[in-house]
Amino acid sequence: MMAPKAVWKFAWDAGKVALRVLPRLTRSYVPVDSNVNLSVLYWKAIGGDETARKMLPGRLSRVLTARGVRMLYPRLHHQNVKIRSKYIDTRIKEIVEEMAEDVLLKILIVGSGFDSRGVKLIEEYSDRDIEVYEFDLPKVIEEKRIVLNQSKLDKGVVGGLRLGGVDLNEIDEARGILLEVIRGGRRKQQQQQQQRVVIVLEAVIIYVDDPTAVLNLLAEVLRESGSGGTLVFADRLPKEQVSYANEGEAGTFLGDLGYELMDFLPKPGLASSMGVAKIKSE
Ligand SMILES: C[S@@+](CC[C@H](N)C(=O)[O-])C[C@H]1O[C@@H](n2cnc3c(N)ncnc32)[C@H](O)[C@@H]1O
Repeated sequence: MMAPKAVWKFAWDAGKVALRVLPRLTRSYVPVDSNVNLSVLYWKAIGGDETARKMLPGRLSRVLTARGVRMLYPRLHHQNVKIRSKYIDTRIKEIVEEMAEDVLLKILIVGSGFDSRGVKLIEEYSDRDIEVYEFDLPKVIEEKRIVLNQSKLDKGVVGGLRLGGVDLNEIDEARGILLEVIRGGRRKQQQQQQQRVVIVLEAVIIYVDDPTAVLNLLAEVLRESGSGGTLVFADRLPKEQVSYANEGEAGTFLGDLGYELMDFLPKPGLASSMGVAKIKSE
């Protein structure tokens, strides 16, 4: 983390070239790196995420991220991504563990890119009543389908993922799609069943036109979902309202949008705020 800027830049540029060249060497499809989502997949694999590794395009990419090899990479971007990813995984685990077993858990991963988390959640909680949704721009979701189809993952598990195209810059359209998920799903047939909704936001609102509008929309969706709706995030909160590492400002900002900040941790890099925010009951 303390390396000079030039070292970070070299690693960034070298990574960009590698992720285009490596799959080509084994004639594999190279997905578009939309807002560094393909880079993040590589970083997660280098950081030890075996599910991410199985999703990498091309055999060579998987060889170069194998257990013995990945130890050789300097701890730069992949270490930073590992911090936020580990934080989110741990917070989700805590939420699931304190939930009653008959509650339907809906996890919405918004701006999911090529994240491996959806697949991992389906695998890990196969004994729970769980629905995992992943949303990203329609063209990214198309790419993700290709990545998943070509991956070394269990196709039965992959088939359990629910993928949908959503543009977070089109708030009204996004609202319709997300509310449909909250109101529908398997619960439709069993209206009596309680649901708990968790929305995951990992390095996404950095890239949208109006991050406050997106957080507002997610608050609306969580409010509609019933009690206990929770946002688990590792992202950049708007700089105008929340200065780096300022938990008090984060609490006030999210509080004004209808959330109650339950946990907060700062992190180096762009996605500098990590936290858990529960929707306030009206
Ligand atoms: C840095 S990547 C993070 C991907 C994933 N959350 C992860 O951590 O592996 C940012 C993601 O935000 C998505 N994104 C950017 N603008 C978006 C928008 N307007 N609507 C939906 N997704 C968007 C990108 O397509 C990309 O997949």
